[in-house]
Amino acid sequence: MPAVVLIGAQWGDEGKGKTTDFLAEQSQVIARYQGGNNAGHTIVLGTEVYKLHLAPSGIFYPDKLCVIAGGVVLDPAVLLQELDDLRQRGVSIANLRISANAHIIMPYHRLLDELEENERGADKIGTTGRGIGPAYRDKISRSGIRMQDLLEPEALTAKIRSNLAEKNLLLTKIYGRPPLDPEAVSAEYREYGARLAPYVADTALLLNERLNRGERVLFEGAQGVMLDLDHGTYPFVTSSNPVAGGACTGAGVGPMCIDAVVGVIKAYTTRVGAGPFPTELADETGEQLRQRGGEYGATTGRARRCGWLDAVAARYAVRISGISSLTMMKLDVLSGIGPLKICVGYRTADGTVLKDFPLSARLLSQITPVYEEMRGWDEALDGIKEFDRLPAAARDYVRRAEDLIGARAALLSVGPEREQTIVRGGVFP
Ligand code: GDP
Ligand code: IMO
Ligand code: MG
Repeated sequence: MPAVVLIGAQWGDEGKGKTTDFLAEQSQVIARYQGGNNAGHTIVLGTEVYKLHLAPSGIFYPDKLCVIAGGVVLDPAVLLQELDDLRQRGVSIANLRISANAHIIMPYHRLLDELEENERGADKIGTTGRGIGPAYRDKISRSGIRMQDLLEPEALTAKIRSNLAEKNLLLTKIYGRPPLDPEAVSAEYREYGARLAPYVADTALLLNERLNRGERVLFEGAQGVMLDLDHGTYPFVTSSNPVAGGACTGAGVGPMCIDAVVGVIKAYTTRVGAGPFPTELADETGEQLRQRGGEYGATTGRARRCGWLDAVAARYAVRISGISSLTMMKLDVLSGIGPLKICVGYRTADGTVLKDFPLSARLLSQITPVYEEMRGWDEALDGIKEFDRLPAAARDYVRRAEDLIGARAALLSVGPEREQTIVRGGVFP
């Protein structure tokens, strides 16, 4: 039962969309298992640029089953808009299935996300403002509304009334905002339910059937290990589990069916939003990476913070998720930026050098990165198709990064398009 989990091994935006699209060709099923429309996965096909927030990045292959599994939180208005856009651009969505268990992002989740962020003042997380945290909170507290509820108009209205009895108190008494009208919200969401009904299914059943048939399922993570609720840089994290283990809980498949875990990394590091980022460059080199890499968020348009490749953090991601191979993206962006640095340790205030990513948030805020310097290269890489054709300095950089991170790069990416990929092999067992 060959399931492959593809995850971000940094702080998100590593190039999961491009990698999923690339690997989807050799898979029969592609499934998103967590997160919501906080994700922005970019796929470039010729002159067309697609930014997917909810649809799996396998959607461009009309013959593949694409699944939005139960671990995803789903904003139905955003999904409907995304599906309309895809359809208008000639992309078939006939093979999309949405889990009846997926939790729904409600208008009060979006509002509370924004209001709570404002309240945090200087301690802002820098969320995407899409209601992700509040929706997962309701799921955990067992008051959430699920996709299946949108198909049961009476029960839906009752649940919305019950939720709004509490949320309206919060909105009015704590935040001084007008209350939401349960009947209007209910009518709006019933309509979404009616439009999405044809796609709703027991996706765990579908996925297990396909796995039992020996089909290859590719699980597409959103965000990244360092943004994981349990294993990331808490509290500057998202509210779900982007780690590989999240695929099992999010999709309803057993861990024994997962044969490989692909960790997607950039050849450098970026982060959007607040929180620790040891190798961040607040200088001209950081700006150079941002400009050359086009490092602006696919969801919010925010400028991404940029820095050197952090092998300590990436090694941590390999450990936490059992990453069996890497795909290293955006190697082309490093052309002409040199010498290059890779972070190999964190120096604490007392001079100790940590080789392992520390769990203590206090310690993490005090460390300075220890770098190994590598020579750079000036040649453009965007037309190169074979590893051996890369400049020697680029090959050295990749090999050194692999040694330090503890996983081999099965794919290298030298541009946003499908074809701009160097295959070294070894993604699939
Ligand atoms: P995701 O969230 O992990 O799917 O990544 P995003 O789509 O948010 O951000 C990655 C960005 O880098 C997108 O704009 C991609 O088109 C682009 N990209 C992906 N791979 C490469 C690459 O190898 N080189 C360059 N220059 N751009 C790339
Ligand atoms: P993809 O899938 C990068 C970040 C936000 C914020 C934190 C919490 O495209 O890699 P949230 O809205 O989830 O409550 O915000 O997580 N974040 C991402 N950063 N890429 C993403 O998705 C992200 N999704 C959330 O910026 O710091
Ligand atoms: Mg993204």
